[in-house]
Amino acid sequence: MSIIAIISDRPGIEDEIRAIFVQPGPGPDVARVPLSGSKSDIGRLIAALPAGGDVVVLVGPGLEAQRSLDILKALDQERPDIVSVLAAQADPTMLQRAIAAGARGLLPPGSQPEQVAAVLNDALDVIARRRVALGGTAEDPRKRVLAVVSAKGGTGKTSVAANLAVALATAAPGQVALVDFDLQFGDVEYALRLKPELTIADLARAGDRVDSTSVKAFLTPHPSGVFALCGPARPVEAETLTGEMLGNVIELLSKDFRYIVIDTAGGIDDAALVAMDHATDILLMSSTDIPSVRAIQKTVEALTAIGLDDRQWHYVLNRSDAKVGLDSEDVKQAVGLDIDLSVPDTRIMTLAMNQGSPVVESDPKSPAARAIAGFATKFLPAPVESGRKLGRRSK
Ligand SMILES: Nc1ncnc2c1ncn2[C@@H]1O[C@H](COP(=O)(O)OP(=O)(O)OP(=O)(O)O)[C@@H](O)[C@H]1O
Ligand SMILES: [Mg+2]
Repeated sequence: MSIIAIISDRPGIEDEIRAIFVQPGPGPDVARVPLSGSKSDIGRLIAALPAGGDVVVLVGPGLEAQRSLDILKALDQERPDIVSVLAAQADPTMLQRAIAAGARGLLPPGSQPEQVAAVLNDALDVIARRRVALGGTAEDPRKRVLAVVSAKGGTGKTSVAANLAVALATAAPGQVALVDFDLQFGDVEYALRLKPELTIADLARAGDRVDSTSVKAFLTPHPSGVFALCGPARPVEAETLTGEMLGNVIELLSKDFRYIVIDTAGGIDDAALVAMDHATDILLMSSTDIPSVRAIQKTVEALTAIGLDDRQWHYVLNRSDAKVGLDSEDVKQAVGLDIDLSVPDTRIMTLAMNQGSPVVESDPKSPAARAIAGFATKFLPAPVESGRKLGRRSK
């Protein structure tokens, strides 16, 4: 069911929107959620939104700019399943801030009915595409599929993916799957010092015979509460894994796990594309050296061109304080993304990898561990008032 929920105090706005969709055929359900004056009311407002169905939220018209942005941010944090559209004056600064706060579209005052219908239909299409991408498992809006990708090898994907998974499992033990899509040289098993009996190759080969209950047999448990699906034992096995098989693996796991963290190989290969296609969130990683930053710029363009810009993007800058390369501010300017996670250059990351013991466990007070654990909290259900916005493009 498609629903358009309007957050506005303008009486009759719901009838205006309903009228736009009268024909042909039944349009979406349209409802208005009125506001109370209080700022702390955003939680109540979000709780009043429909819990199921394809929900587009129209924020405004008639709201004060900062209030609209606060609502957009809270929606972005609390209800990643919905798509929001802002009805407000479209000066460039407001547009930029609205997009950064999570709005998918903007409707300026005086928009013609066709334009309103086009923007709202586009928002409904985005939800439908996401639902298909997630294999119809979006019944729990807090489910997240996080694809960790980078244009170059060695940027720290496996280190960050493993630490992030363990940090998430601290809050949600048993609900985190860490999946190795580095099909030739995957090292998730070393990052967590695991000895997998079965791997992603076995799961993919088992095909239809595996369901959401039996899938756990292919995973290797880690004491933190993470279940790892390790990469194939031999690189040659990678050739037997098709994109369809990999997509099925994610869909199967998303029936059983709230969080799926997918580590990928360096460069955007087919497996990384499958991961991003199924992802709610894409973690783009680079270090500060110029080739790495240039490669990320090109990756951003390429991912935008293939329509992956409707995912939540998070830019992760590793070795952010390395003496070589650009400083964080230059990187941010060059890439055009806010930096959502900065991990310092530190020996303990290398040691942790060598010892198979993620820093969030082995050295939780270290700046690197704190940074990753702090970032992980973005994905946990949190009180609205203390939430931060999810990473978004800054331009
Ligand atoms: N912030 C950091 N400080 C110091 N060393 C780090 C940091 N992050 C990662 N490393 C080290 O850099 C090396 C590469 O990291 P990692 O294996 O996580 O990168 P990757 O992107 O997964 O590489 P690949 O593309 O080969 O899969 C490892 O030895 C790791 O311990
Ligand atoms: Mg790796």
